[in-house]
Amino acid sequence: MNKVKVQAPSNIAFIKYWGNKKDNIPLNESVSMTLDNCLTKTTACFSDKDFDEIYIKNNSGEKTLLEKNDIKGKKAYEQIEIIRKISGKKNKLTIESENNFPTGAGIASSASGFCALSGACAKIFEINDLIGNKKEFSKLVRKSGSASAARSVFGGFVSLKDGGDGNYFAEQIADEASWKLTDTVAILKNSVKKTPSSEGHRLAKTSPFLNTRLSEVKKRLSDVKQAIIKKDFEKLGHAIEKDTISMHAVMMTSTPPLFYLEPETLKLIKLIIDARNKGTEAYYSIDAGANVHVICEEKNEEKVNKFLSELKFVKSQIINHVGSGIKFL
Ligand code: PMV
Repeated sequence: MNKVKVQAPSNIAFIKYWGNKKDNIPLNESVSMTLDNCLTKTTACFSDKDFDEIYIKNNSGEKTLLEKNDIKGKKAYEQIEIIRKISGKKNKLTIESENNFPTGAGIASSASGFCALSGACAKIFEINDLIGNKKEFSKLVRKSGSASAARSVFGGFVSLKDGGDGNYFAEQIADEASWKLTDTVAILKNSVKKTPSSEGHRLAKTSPFLNTRLSEVKKRLSDVKQAIIKKDFEKLGHAIEKDTISMHAVMMTSTPPLFYLEPETLKLIKLIIDARNKGTEAYYSIDAGANVHVICEEKNEEKVNKFLSELKFVKSQIINHVGSGIKFL
């Protein structure tokens, strides 16, 4: 096999992971919904050169070489090395990766990107037992530059949890057919965030609210899991919003503080609450970026789209349903 192609989805965390121990180990369990319309496609092929190359393709098809001079770039090249070592092979790789959605804008492009990269490397190096065992594969993905990428291995609703030995792995809570939910991403800003999440995780420990978050998040985790199993949308929605605010409180009280929220983000949060009070059952979730994920049941999707289209400051919308996990094409 000389060339492989892999597609991995992004995911939106309902219970977010923020703050890590060394080696990218999360400080708390997280739960997400896999997205069907925010995808990374990655190809890998053997190279004649004596070094690896990762190219990122933009929407116009232009390719840029990923440099190793930031944390994510360095981690991406390290992930190739780790997987090559497991395979026992020596070949160098040329990787090409492309997102169908804005990168670094709070839509978890690292999650889909690192999941696809890990999958493409495992496939080209023919580590088939690892690819066939999703739990073990998710452990390997977790060690990449984005722990939340491990959740993208699975479709549906997914938890990233401690196996008891500090080794985190992903596990499906319910599959993609179990509950018809929609995540409409309201694009307010297309610009790439200034502080990547990898840097933010490191800063979390400087926040006086981190320990408060880590103790109160446990009850919310159990509420979110129960809500998913019982399809209790109101319970889910309130927990999602509380978790968003709790994570951003840690971000904003870190040293230096991290403000991912923009004025338009707060404006939209308030409008979503107003709309909900008038009968549009939707809730907000915001990752490490300014854009807002508006979560509703699929039956209310059109109402949400109409509400968002009437707001001039919403540049565009990306509509996602519950998607499946990584695919080897
Ligand atoms: O897994 P990372 O390093 O890309 O960080 C994920 C951080 C958040 O997206 C803000 C939350 C999450 O759990 O997805």
